[in-house]
Amino acid sequence: MLRIAVFASGNGTNAENLITYFQKSDLARIVLVLSNNKDAKVLDRAKRLNVNTLDFTREEFYKTNDIVDTILKKVDFVILAGFLWRIPESLIEMFPNRIVNIHPALLPKYGGKGMYGMRVHEAVKDNCEKETGISIHYVNEQYDEGGIIFQKKITISPQDSPEQIAGRIHKLEYKYFPIVIGNLLRADFKLDRVNI
Ligand code: GAR
Repeated sequence: MLRIAVFASGNGTNAENLITYFQKSDLARIVLVLSNNKDAKVLDRAKRLNVNTLDFTREEFYKTNDIVDTILKKVDFVILAGFLWRIPESLIEMFPNRIVNIHPALLPKYGGKGMYGMRVHEAVKDNCEKETGISIHYVNEQYDEGGIIFQKKITISPQDSPEQIAGRIHKLEYKYFPIVIGNLLRADFKLDRVNI
């Protein structure tokens, strides 16, 4: 059974969805949820689902090896699901092509520092975009610039509010993120892929 760690900064509905999806899988389990925010709802969600949690400070994350050492011992794969901080190089080197992020827009549009959650949907709306979507990508040292693994588009109309766009994007994330992660893990271990 492969072991996955999820980093998240806030609400954690994607983290919860990943936890429950993989609890029914014979491929992997989410074994650890980490957050830079000790009050983040994601930590309550994980605890409720009997998943270990860890919160950390900026100092611990960037100036010590504590987090790298902890997850190296405990996990095979890392997922970012609404995580706000840049990942340190040491962690990226320890998990080559094994750290994956989800972004709520069609990268390279609407990515980069500060482009997070509702801010993304508000920018999409302000620019009168006709389509948006989700991007699942490998993580490198730059925000939202690692190789894209999967994208899914939706069309939006001028009447859609940022909140409505966010709702539709979340649905796409819940549907595709676990399947894409499962396929990545299967590719690593040369198992059959699931068609999506
Ligand atoms: C998700 O929509 C995710 O794509 C986005 O934050 C939201 C977290 O929601 N991530 C980013 O914007 C990364 N730049 P959740 O906490 O309910 O899963």
